Amino acid sequence: MSSAEVKRRHLLPANERLKNFTLPGELEIVVVDTGTSTGLAADLAAMSIACGVMPVPGSAMRGVSGDDVCLIAVDSGGKAVATASSYMSNHPHSPHTTDAFWGMLATREDWRGKGIALALGAHSIVWMWENLGARSFNTGLTADNTASIELCAKSGVIPSEWTFIGCVDPDVFGSSSITR
Ligand SMILES: CC(C)(COP(=O)(O)OP(=O)(O)OC[C@H]1O[C@@H](n2cnc3c(N)ncnc32)[C@H](O)[C@@H]1OP(=O)(O)O)[C@@H](O)C(=O)NCCC(=O)NCCS
Repeated sequence: MSSAEVKRRHLLPANERLKNFTLPGELEIVVVDTGTSTGLAADLAAMSIACGVMPVPGSAMRGVSGDDVCLIAVDSGGKAVATASSYMSNHPHSPHTTDAFWGMLATREDWRGKGIALALGAHSIVWMWENLGARSFNTGLTADNTASIELCAKSGVIPSEWTFIGCVDPDVFGSSSITR
């Protein structure tokens, strides 16, 4: 597969998803930033934890370093119902500088099955592509998370021969898993 084909693989499914999807009317998509209220940020973190997903740190959530995005679908009462995040995952001088980690997808149980995670995930891919020049998206999955595997496949994030190795500080993460 040529590199052009690899690059197109992520953007095309994402754009296709968005073309054919309307978010339920009462929901609004918010890009988390430094102006986002503490209440909404805390609600997002609590919602992610309730879904078994480790929330991104506050500064990353708010895009302070300028190399990531965190989206929330918010209901009419201002509560977080779903989220998706992505961040540039390599050093700017790395040959893989346009690779981004993508995921941290979570949808509150009462909103599942409406295509919201698929839409937010697609929005985050398009956002990273357009605003930060991300051209390749990778994620980590737990082998038995069928919902997530299916969702990733529909987003164009599919199994490959790439391997990435992460170092995790047990004093910070304890026994928590960084994938779901
Ligand atoms: C995974 C999760 C984010 C999906 O949220 P959602 O908003 O219900 O997902 P969508 O409605 O957008 O579903 C998109 C696709 O994912 C797949 N999918 C979603 N839930 C599924 C399930 N329970 N079983 C199998 N496939 C599923 C389907 O292919 C679905 O497409 P379809 O509706 O056309 O069949 C949600 O179930 C969740 O928060 N789970 C716990 C946290 C988690 O596992 N996060 C992912 C890893 S970070």
